[in-house]
Amino acid sequence: MQKKVTKAVIPAAGLGTRFLPETKALPKEMLPIVDTPTIQFIVEEAKKSGIKDIVIVIGKGKRSIEDHFDANPELEQNLEERHKTDMLETIRKTNDMNIYFIRQSHPRGLGDAIYTARSFISNEPFVVMLGDDVMQDKVPLTKQLMDSYQQTGASTLAVKKVAHRDISKYGVIDPSEEVRPGLFNVKKFVEKPSPEKAPSDLAIIGRYLLTPEIFGILEDAKPDASGEIQLTSAIDTLNRTQRVFAHEFKGARYDTGNKLSWLKTNIIFGLQHPEISTGLRAYLKDLGKQLTDEDAKKKK
Ligand code: G1P
Repeated sequence: MQKKVTKAVIPAAGLGTRFLPETKALPKEMLPIVDTPTIQFIVEEAKKSGIKDIVIVIGKGKRSIEDHFDANPELEQNLEERHKTDMLETIRKTNDMNIYFIRQSHPRGLGDAIYTARSFISNEPFVVMLGDDVMQDKVPLTKQLMDSYQQTGASTLAVKKVAHRDISKYGVIDPSEEVRPGLFNVKKFVEKPSPEKAPSDLAIIGRYLLTPEIFGILEDAKPDASGEIQLTSAIDTLNRTQRVFAHEFKGARYDTGNKLSWLKTNIIFGLQHPEISTGLRAYLKDLGKQLTDEDAKKKK
């Protein structure tokens, strides 16, 4: 019987420079997908997976994340008095989670952010959930990793095939045998290789189940050329002393980490949103026609 996984680390200390000027004073994790901050989706995925305790690693200018996950008695009372039950439910969705905050004072990379959570995690397996990716599947991806851990007792990372031209944005695996459908042994984990050097198109997509031995490796890790301590390199080192598997995710992954993909995600979620789907659909159809006409005119 493996140890139960009950804790998650969500790193949210990054500067969010891809979204400047918005992120000058507001955290990118609070950027909405229609009406819900991105980080709320991550915490809900953790909750649906059976995680009880979450530590969010924050930095300067991230106060609003703490406020978002705090109870808001005045607002709740106001909504209660006006019988706004749906809204009340929405804002109380994750009130039963234990959410803690740690500050990373100097952003020194993902590996360092995870290392700040070592006392909170102690000697237990845990999950790392990155905020840029929102996942949809029947079984939440984090739960898929937890189920896999119950069978193997080994660290397991989520991976997904991405377009070859995009591979240098990701940590990439060099897979060896597929031990069972969708679960790979891994020869090597490489952070952001050039497309020519990438060992595969299987990218690490922001959900990790890690054994606590990762902390000993992070403790001794040296920053790379850009001054960052890379989680991927630490995982590659871990893989030399204990097995680390890659689990291929077959569900939908929505990237919110850059302007274009964030906008696309908003459109897709808008089309699924009961309040605005009809209006948005009609608007997109009109816009599509208008753009086609414009392109046709240009060609003449
Ligand atoms: C980080 C990781 C990378 C991973 C990616 C997933 O990169 O370092 O290995 O593939 O998240 O989104 P970042 O997107 O923070 O540059």
